[in-house]
Amino acid sequence: MRLPLFVAACLVAAPAAAQSQQASGSFPQNSVSDRDHGGPRGEAQRASIAALQQTLTELQQLQLQTKQAHWNVSGTLFYPLHELLQEHYEGVGKYADEVAERLLAIGASADGRANTIVRTSRVPEITGGFIDDGQVIVWFARNYRVVSDEVGQGIKATEDGDPTTSNLLQEVQHAIDKYQWQMRAMIQPTPTDQNTGAPLNGGQPLPMAK
Ligand SMILES: [Fe+2]
Repeated sequence: MRLPLFVAACLVAAPAAAQSQQASGSFPQNSVSDRDHGGPRGEAQRASIAALQQTLTELQQLQLQTKQAHWNVSGTLFYPLHELLQEHYEGVGKYADEVAERLLAIGASADGRANTIVRTSRVPEITGGFIDDGQVIVWFARNYRVVSDEVGQGIKATEDGDPTTSNLLQEVQHAIDKYQWQMRAMIQPTPTDQNTGAPLNGGQPLPMAK
């Protein structure tokens, strides 16, 4: 008799617990295991969880935004941006997985839920509908900087207590900074020839031949 009662109690309690968790608004949620693991403990572990979780959220947010732009970018730079954004999508996806699994390796759960991304990302959503190529470049050049700065804070917060996590976050920042350059390079002015110092039409586009 006891087992069926217990099972029935779980069936009733589980949805109620899930609902109250959902309503509480406590995002993100990282459970910490008491099983033995090779990661940091105490304050160092808390710092690593916070840095990894925030980085995971931002990488997932970037996954969503790179795909949105990959599909909807319009203009003369459609094709190179369509291709570049696919590359960036795959890159941030790879790092999101590494960062989530580092959370697991140091004894914490990873929170990759949509609500957590919406509530805790510092990166805004890109505009809906078709997006102008120039708008896409400016949006990513700006928001890759936002994420790089956030990851940089995580690198500092973990460098003493958990250098392995800090190193992983450095790899993430390395990739994000590269992606930021790949967007920025399309819009930064080139006023002079770097070898000769000769003016390159004052940074203006060359006139079209008649
Ligand atoms: Fe595609």
